[in-house]
Amino acid sequence: MRFCIVGLVGALGVLGICYELWAHAYLVSADPPAGASLEASPEKIVLVFSEEIDPNFSSFDLYDAQGQLLQRLSFVTQENRLRVVLTLPKLSNGAYTVAWKVLSSIDGHTTTGVLPLGIGVGSKGALSMEAKLDLLRILVRWGRLLALMTFAGTLVFVQLIAKERFSALRVLWGVAVLFSLSELALYANSVGELNAVWGTRVGMTLSAQIAMLFITGTVWARGGAWSWLGLALSLAAVAAGAWSSHSAAAKDTLALIFEIAHLVTVAIWAGGLLALGLLVREQATSWNGVLVRFSRLALLSVVVLVGSGVYLSFRHVGSLSALWSTDYGRFLLVKLALLTAILAMAALNFRQVRRDFRGEYGRRDLAPLHRRVWGEFFVVVLVLGAASALALSAPPRAGHSSSPAVLVGESDGLRITLIVSSVRVEPAHFAVQLQSRDGRSVTEHVQRVTLEFRHRDGLGAVSAFAEPTSAGDFALHGLYLSVAGQWEITVRVRLSDRAEDIITIFEVQAFR
Ligand code: HEM
Repeated sequence: MRFCIVGLVGALGVLGICYELWAHAYLVSADPPAGASLEASPEKIVLVFSEEIDPNFSSFDLYDAQGQLLQRLSFVTQENRLRVVLTLPKLSNGAYTVAWKVLSSIDGHTTTGVLPLGIGVGSKGALSMEAKLDLLRILVRWGRLLALMTFAGTLVFVQLIAKERFSALRVLWGVAVLFSLSELALYANSVGELNAVWGTRVGMTLSAQIAMLFITGTVWARGGAWSWLGLALSLAAVAAGAWSSHSAAAKDTLALIFEIAHLVTVAIWAGGLLALGLLVREQATSWNGVLVRFSRLALLSVVVLVGSGVYLSFRHVGSLSALWSTDYGRFLLVKLALLTAILAMAALNFRQVRRDFRGEYGRRDLAPLHRRVWGEFFVVVLVLGAASALALSAPPRAGHSSSPAVLVGESDGLRITLIVSSVRVEPAHFAVQLQSRDGRSVTEHVQRVTLEFRHRDGLGAVSAFAEPTSAGDFALHGLYLSVAGQWEITVRVRLSDRAEDIITIFEVQAFR
């Protein structure tokens, strides 16, 4: 009963964090910048995204000031599909909007947004971006990981630890197929095109896993060599998940190998715990052989999964502060916190197995071990929840090019555009453009422009004056984003005809 309550609270906690999840392929910069009012119609627009996009499932539409669709723009991708060059038709004076929908080819998430532009007039509206939050997809992924991994892990247990028949295997197989098909359907739905099933990396990964599950289901029960084939296929289905992971997207072979080792050892451990929990209840065989063999396999699995996890964390998180200042980092912290609880229970079990399980013994001796096995399993279930959310959030270290970030804000009728030349922890150029609502540049009344930099973790604030430049904007250069993490940049504009300063606050994520 206590485990169920802990389990429930934990699950709700993971769900709560999921709700925070933010966009994957988000727009890092645009040239011409969002909200710009240009003298002449530009030939092209260059957009830079934080993650590589899938051009087959991305689109860019041009609208006029009345919201009429003018045309779907043709585009080419460059730089590992992080950079998109849109070709524009010759446009007459007016306000226009480019509305985009991009599919991140890494984890298959869709982001939409609009980019306003003015030709000869001020643009309408401000840059906006939105990522469809797919909480249902996170939950279904959780279910799929749980069923698939415990199914494969139980097959390992049956083949290597205790030659027992588990009626639960059929149930696990059925649930794994069901959740895999559901995630595939949800994914195709989120992309909005059926051919995402075979035309995208995520679609192909899920389809391959389902095919391997079906073959496993038909061959495993035949016994003998077929069981070994079934076992190998089920582990291959688990390992296949690495193909659409962040490690694959980072094109890092070592990370990919560690990701596969991580997934397979998680399956062996989680499935083994479930099988042991079910087996102990059934009182079927003498325990010493089974418990000693399983605790050895479990120990090996834990060492490999923690080791691979540490490497993957370094590879994808990149800095200590990103652990608590990014969603990805926070999910990882949840995993690590839960893992300590599991390891505490596992250590007690390991010690009891080494101490007590030499020769035959009675049922009562098993009770504490049995409870802890189920305790471990329950917390592993929670970790899988955090892992599903982790896999669907943007790793702090992925794809962040050092190209400019463009932020647009409006306050008191003044549009303030802040262009940061690089969001990496390095000296950068900060340009502030001031425009009235109708897009006219505002410089004549400006007495002073101050930029204040404050790190979210309260590392103290730094402020500096931005100098007027010949280009009509105000600029500052230097190492102001001095550590990785979330920064607040406050732009304070002092105008000669106003008593109060006009203030706009921008948020920027800085990366190593
Ligand atoms: C009970 C222990 C653990 C379980 C059950 C577990 C489970 C998982 C699963 C299922 C995934 C893949 C998620 C997916 O593709 O949907 C994953 C990924 C990951 N795990 Fe673990 N893990 C555990 C422990 C750890 C530890 C100890 C660390 C770090 C020290 C870690 C770091 C990671 C990282 C960084 C990834 C993400 C890789 C990516 O972004 O593609 N895990 N884990």
